Amino acid sequence: MPLLLKDPAAPFGDVHGPMLTGPFAPVFDEAVMTDLQVEGKIPADLNGVYLRNGPNPRYEPKGDYHAFDGDGMIHAAEFRNGKVTYRNKWIRTADWIEDDIRGEETHWGIMQTLKGRTDKVLADTANTDIIGHAGKAVASWYLSGVPYLIDPITLETVATANYVSGPGNGMSAHSKVDEVTGELIFFDYYDTAPHMTYSVVDKDGKLLHTTPVELPGDRLPHDMGITEHYSILHDLPVYHDAEALRAGRHKIRFDASLPARLGVIPRYGKGNEVRWFEFSSCFIYHVVNCWEEGDEVVMIACRYMPSLKENGEIDEAKTAKRIAQLQMDARLWSYRMNMKTGEATEECLDPDRNVEFPTYDSARTGRYTKWGYLVDHDPMVLRWTGLRKYNTDTGECVGAWSDGQDDCWYSEPWFAPADNQQSEDHGYVITFVWNNKTHVQQLQVFDALDISKGPVARITLPRRVPSGFHACWMKASQIENWD
Ligand SMILES: [Fe+2]
Repeated sequence: MPLLLKDPAAPFGDVHGPMLTGPFAPVFDEAVMTDLQVEGKIPADLNGVYLRNGPNPRYEPKGDYHAFDGDGMIHAAEFRNGKVTYRNKWIRTADWIEDDIRGEETHWGIMQTLKGRTDKVLADTANTDIIGHAGKAVASWYLSGVPYLIDPITLETVATANYVSGPGNGMSAHSKVDEVTGELIFFDYYDTAPHMTYSVVDKDGKLLHTTPVELPGDRLPHDMGITEHYSILHDLPVYHDAEALRAGRHKIRFDASLPARLGVIPRYGKGNEVRWFEFSSCFIYHVVNCWEEGDEVVMIACRYMPSLKENGEIDEAKTAKRIAQLQMDARLWSYRMNMKTGEATEECLDPDRNVEFPTYDSARTGRYTKWGYLVDHDPMVLRWTGLRKYNTDTGECVGAWSDGQDDCWYSEPWFAPADNQQSEDHGYVITFVWNNKTHVQQLQVFDALDISKGPVARITLPRRVPSGFHACWMKASQIENWD
């Protein structure tokens, strides 16, 4: 008997664009749920928390809505001794609190900045990414904002993390944690020169290093990478439309005349030590992982495929529009940068599949990883229709699963190592799945050794988890208040 959708499928009507209805529609309660219905068995050697961030506007938006506008909400599954607890809670950002006091949305969204406030044009919703660091979860926003520290068990917002003071004090989504050293490595980006700041924080949250990085102009990088000794920064040909920016509007352009540049900087290097490598023009939303191989720095990523005109040329306007609307057409891609010779090479690992939102064993961030776990991406809407396991050496898809490519909305999965991990892929892949045909919401756990067998545990939740953005896994030993 399918569980009924508890929340309205269009709580704000359908006048704010397509990202607020159906599987995207927000929920309005903050729940703690135990004794959930389980098919299969929750592994006993899976102890920790799967956390997923995403937009969930509390009040009706002003005008057109973009997914980056919605108040960040964390949905979490705590696995402990073969049992699971589900929780969800809004991130108490400064803007959430301001809305709470006023009882309404106090900002216009990123598509309507001309109508915005002069004191603070955009709401920093912290709704995009989440990572584990120094015992806490850290939530961050796409346009670079304030990092919010979250208790990974209770999901309470604990504090803001002001790692850097002065210019460049924001933090973009997709900062990286080196789980060997405990360091947090991140970048900030902004419209004025030098356009980027790169920083390293130690395992306790104390700033170790920060340096400005000069880019040729304002850019909208989304991700970065780290290796054991370097960080890889992105200078991609996506930037604000200059005229719109002068008018205070957020409109992006894709410039096919510019290369994609990847900058390799020593972990504690200065901005003038970045070595830039040029690649074919493209945007990159997400990096899988990076590492060093001899003289080479390797980056495995999902390359955004520019839209083409009938004559084969890149259609800049269409590409920019699709990037802005989060319509993904990406391929698994390998980038290699030779630090000795300066040679830059790139290779498409799988030309046939549109895959994105990658995960891997994040204990090996910055070190070689063979296995990546990605989602099949619907090219026309922010929807993930199934999971795939890839050999990132060969580009071979070694396993796949979907409960229904036409009906299912998967969350970004994350890899969770087994408690006594024996090999890189000894562990589990965890994801939320909303079936839009049966209206059943599940939390699913796969054996990472072979995801094609289907979930080893299906946990049914009596409520929908709206489609969202990024996820992470924090194992028990990484959580400050686990016991
Ligand atoms: Fe992202």
